[in-house]
Amino acid sequence: MRCSNVADYREAARCFLPDFAWQYLEGGAEDQLTMADNRAAFQRIGFTPRVLVDVDAVDTRVMWGTTSGTTTAAWPAVVGPTGLNGLYRPHAEETLARAAHARGLPFALSTASTSLIEDVRRATDGELWLQLYVQQDRRIAENMMARARANGFTTLLLTVDTPVTGQRDHYARTGFTLPLKWTPRLLWDVATHPRWVAAVGRHGVPQLVNIAKSAGLGRGIEEQAAALSRQMDRSIAWADLAWLRRHWPGRLLVKGVQSATDALHASKHEVDGVVLSNHGGRQLDGAPSAMDVLAEAAPLVRRDFDLFIDGGVRRGSDIVKAVALGARGVLLGRAPLYGLAGGGRAGVDHVLALLENELQICLRLLGCPRIDALDTSWLRRPQAARALEEVDA
Ligand code: GLV
Repeated sequence: MRCSNVADYREAARCFLPDFAWQYLEGGAEDQLTMADNRAAFQRIGFTPRVLVDVDAVDTRVMWGTTSGTTTAAWPAVVGPTGLNGLYRPHAEETLARAAHARGLPFALSTASTSLIEDVRRATDGELWLQLYVQQDRRIAENMMARARANGFTTLLLTVDTPVTGQRDHYARTGFTLPLKWTPRLLWDVATHPRWVAAVGRHGVPQLVNIAKSAGLGRGIEEQAAALSRQMDRSIAWADLAWLRRHWPGRLLVKGVQSATDALHASKHEVDGVVLSNHGGRQLDGAPSAMDVLAEAAPLVRRDFDLFIDGGVRRGSDIVKAVALGARGVLLGRAPLYGLAGGGRAGVDHVLALLENELQICLRLLGCPRIDALDTSWLRRPQAARALEEVDA
């Protein structure tokens, strides 16, 4: 199948992957209301185009501040952190990092990655970010931060929406557990996906090598999974940001903020910004979409406080909407993974190229040649959101 948009790659990924891996990639929490709203939030927003503007050249570059200076991205996106990527292709994180760099974007590696910080660094000299989960034994996080610093990672994303894993019904349906238990259902699932077996399955079950290395664990996936989930530190609170700051002098973003109040609260701490996120609808079902929170938060925080969003970005025009609403950029989660599963490195390259091309088309049709000129005047939004912003202004 010739894929012409992200949705086509989604279909290619669905065909390639055994159901348990597909559901892990795609599935949300409970009734998936939040997951659906992540898409709907973009669809609720329209544009106000301007005509007879010279859009022969468009400039999509953005500059992001770091404590050690500024970095530029070719367009306002990051290939975001997702766990267990080795389920989709071997050397998945190295592939995602290389593809991101080739398109001028940073890549964010998950704590739950199936490749080591050091191996991803060796694979690319592009900009790398680290997503951090904090376990009860804080030395694990400290070790991981030290490894990331030693390898020149610029930005830390502290994820705060995961004291426990959300209720994902599909785990029970597909028989997905860590470690995998080879039930007849799972064997059938795998056996009926021979292309996946040839490309991925024959390498064995991917390991959570990053957490294992920082925790001094062996190669047993059971021990590794326990370190990641059962030992998650549920007591972490705002005051702990000071601890984190001591270990991470680079740029620090709090990821998983789900209200304007918390975004404002974060801006009064020693952090550089937040990622407004509901974890792709995989955690609290009923949490608001990041776009709705962004509309409320952007007028409240100071201008140099970075607001990123994630969840539901499937079109270049979604990125335009997010930036116009006040985001510094978006994190791409599932979209590059559809490309990875559906087409390997070429698939990720194509997904990123499609999004960048759509972004440029959107800016030209909008009559906005510079992405940094976007603001809410380019949008048409429901009355309620506009009214809220006017009250805050
Ligand atoms: C991991 O962060 C997941 O959502 O599965």
